[in-house]
Amino acid sequence: MGIRVSDVAFVRFQAPDLDQMEAFLTDFGLVRAEKTDDTLYMRGAGDEPFVHVTHKGAAGFAGIAFLADSVSDLEALAAMEGASPVEEITEPGGGKRVRFVDPNGHKVEVVAGRESVGALDLQRGAATNCAMQQPRVDKTLRSGEGPAQVMRLGHCVLNVVDFRQSEAWYKERFGLITSDEIEIEKGTSIGAFMRCDRGSLPADHHTLFLLGTGEAGFNHAAFEVANVDDLMAGNSHLAAKGYTHEWGVGRHILGSQVFDYWRDPWGHTVEHWTDGDVFTSDTPANTQGIDTLLGVQWGPPPPPTLGS
Ligand SMILES: [Fe+2]
Repeated sequence: MGIRVSDVAFVRFQAPDLDQMEAFLTDFGLVRAEKTDDTLYMRGAGDEPFVHVTHKGAAGFAGIAFLADSVSDLEALAAMEGASPVEEITEPGGGKRVRFVDPNGHKVEVVAGRESVGALDLQRGAATNCAMQQPRVDKTLRSGEGPAQVMRLGHCVLNVVDFRQSEAWYKERFGLITSDEIEIEKGTSIGAFMRCDRGSLPADHHTLFLLGTGEAGFNHAAFEVANVDDLMAGNSHLAAKGYTHEWGVGRHILGSQVFDYWRDPWGHTVEHWTDGDVFTSDTPANTQGIDTLLGVQWGPPPPPTLGS
């Protein structure tokens, strides 16, 4: 029987040069957790041991991991068709995991019992004044230069061969629920924003988006930063370093996040986001059109390269 995962935990990539990946990810706002001859583990400012892994090899996406509440949840998953046994994780933070391969060949892990490593201090956590309220009194705000501060991995978008088949596969195992489904025409859906079912606890509007493109692939991974000020400081920092900017800064319609999309040195799209919607399990699913998917509340329109 399936479980209800509570979040996404980390993404794995392969790249031929770990030093080059570390330099980019440091400018993107991650912090080295551990580096060996063949693997780089990067953490955010949150308390998880790592949120981004790079294995040395030919460049490409190498998998996604979700977070389960308990090892007994992992045991339930391990009894499902296609699951690995429950395994010890021999990586920073330890814990246990179950591995799957989805119908598209994407590697999927579910982890539990990882050690908390404690949160890092925030550089840009100052209260924000606005016209309606001024919580910051007798204090200045100084953003300072330097990278944004990634807190955690927030969501991942995967291109899949058959949206309905993949949707069923993920929902059966991990208990994901739909926030917004995307129709290209009446009765024909090409994808959906899905979130974790945390009952009365709020969950991000989307943790996984499956986009039925007819071909399996990686679309993007999105990391939550401290706040809008932090996101804009990060944008300036990455631009000054000459990295490839893809889309932003803007505010999405579905999920409402302020977003900023960049490319890593091998072309993988990685997003900074902040100020997104959070829903309990009470919010029902909606159906939306492709214009709403790609539309913005403010900011530039999406580039034709998005997700390629
Ligand atoms: Fe995103």
